[in-house]
Amino acid sequence: MRKEILIIGNWKCNPLKLAQAQNLYRSIVSGLRKEAKENRTKQHSFKTKNKEQVRIVICPPFVYINDLVALNKKLGANLEFGAQNCFWEESGAYTGEISPKMVKSLGCRYVIVGHSERRLYFNETNEIINKKLKISLRVGLTPILCIGESKKDEETGKTEEILKIQLQEGLKGVENGKLVKNLIIAYEPVWAIGTGDFCDPEKASKALFFIRQRTNAKVLYGGSVNSKIAGEYLKVGFDGLLIGGASLKAQEFIKIIKNV
Ligand code: PGA
Repeated sequence: MRKEILIIGNWKCNPLKLAQAQNLYRSIVSGLRKEAKENRTKQHSFKTKNKEQVRIVICPPFVYINDLVALNKKLGANLEFGAQNCFWEESGAYTGEISPKMVKSLGCRYVIVGHSERRLYFNETNEIINKKLKISLRVGLTPILCIGESKKDEETGKTEEILKIQLQEGLKGVENGKLVKNLIIAYEPVWAIGTGDFCDPEKASKALFFIRQRTNAKVLYGGSVNSKIAGEYLKVGFDGLLIGGASLKAQEFIKIIKNV
């Protein structure tokens, strides 16, 4: 049985102001507390019906992390934090980049690497992603490696081929034994991200099976997750969810957590 499941909110490049980010965060915390109270559970202990521990992670834009970590403390909440990206070196003359050590020192435990939007808009290759993944592990962050096929790959039956390459190249030089504790894989079909066209859980479970044959890491599903479908991905065996759009709406995000 799974011991814990992860629900990760990826805020992407939203919201535009710190005060809005703080309000969203406050609404999530107070909504979760209300839920916990109604279910007569301890306010910080979220468990599924199968008694799995639920960890909730927020990945805000870099510029809000510091303030939200402080707010988390002030509210006495225990949500965790992740960054949406990091650089592949620790420090140096790299204008505009953010070191994984900086991410760690802000209070993040996780970092997303290889999100399809980074692959698409910032030309991140598997080689770059592998460098980011390795340095994240080295500094003690838990990388969330995103993999997934495009619409064209899916239509031409190349899903497994693509996943195989992304795993092989993304995880190059990382021992499988270490993966269990220190690494998370997020299966996110590119065509399902931000489109409302989520991947059918049964179909996603085929990719899950394929990934599980190759790594011991935890595997999440991501791509247009909403509160109605969320629980189905856990039923087919995923260890959690990576949520974009729905994590920006406090009520919907809480419903997702409730429904798992
Ligand atoms: P979405 O994004 O839930 O808005 O589809 C998921 C993601 O990009 O991780």
